[in-house]
Amino acid sequence: MQVIICPNEQRVGEIGAARVAQLAAKVGPAVVIGVATGSSPLATYAELAARVRAGSLDLSQASAFALDEYVGLPITHPESYFDTIRRTVTEPLGLDPAKVNVPDGREDGLETAGQRYEDAIKAAGGVDVQILGIGSNGHIGFNEPASSLSSRTRMKTLTQQTREDNARFFDSIDEVPRYCVTQGLGTILDARSAVLVAFGEGKAEAVAAMVEGPVTSMCPASVLQLHKTATIVIDEAAASGLKMADYFKECYENLPAWRKLDV
Ligand code: F6R
Repeated sequence: MQVIICPNEQRVGEIGAARVAQLAAKVGPAVVIGVATGSSPLATYAELAARVRAGSLDLSQASAFALDEYVGLPITHPESYFDTIRRTVTEPLGLDPAKVNVPDGREDGLETAGQRYEDAIKAAGGVDVQILGIGSNGHIGFNEPASSLSSRTRMKTLTQQTREDNARFFDSIDEVPRYCVTQGLGTILDARSAVLVAFGEGKAEAVAAMVEGPVTSMCPASVLQLHKTATIVIDEAAASGLKMADYFKECYENLPAWRKLDV
């Protein structure tokens, strides 16, 4: 696990995008990108979009797979992850909408939604670069604490904490769906590389548990300790609970030339 500590949120976006671009370039224009919703990756997406516009990143044949979707929101709802991904990823990055996939959160197909999504990821050849955020309770995707570390895409019940955290996107907490369809922790671990971005004091405890705690389903993000190519890009506030912060800074400052990021 590589941990990069940045001075601020803006820099998290720049470094996060540089790492995603570095990994994507190794795959080529037909890269398969896993995308998260929420506030954390927005600056990263904006930086990636700038690279696409400048011609330094070619995503012309790329496809994308979202991590999760609420159950019961129509895809036309502005807070559905289908519509959120269209606004924040598909359009700014110029992806072909036909190649952008979001789990099916319709109530009438829930029994098969997980397997259908797993099949679609497999048919695309698997995810090359997975972009992640982390919940204040340590979730990735919507794998809440106590999720199986080998889980696959399936329906999950959101915790009260997650519904409270996400109430800011709705008029009231009562409008936040109770259920979702999310890639599993096993699904996320199958991605060839992962880049998790986080900023702010509110993530400090979850980040410390993810990076320095035991691998445990009580902090689902800690499963990334088992991933062979995971990069964690965080600001000073999100890093404030890390005992190894100075070491992580020393490692990043002294990266060998071939590992250095183009920022
Ligand atoms: C979103 C997702 C979640 C978020 C997490 C952090 O698709 O899977 O794990 O990444 O809840 O959300 P923000 O970034 O809004 O703090």
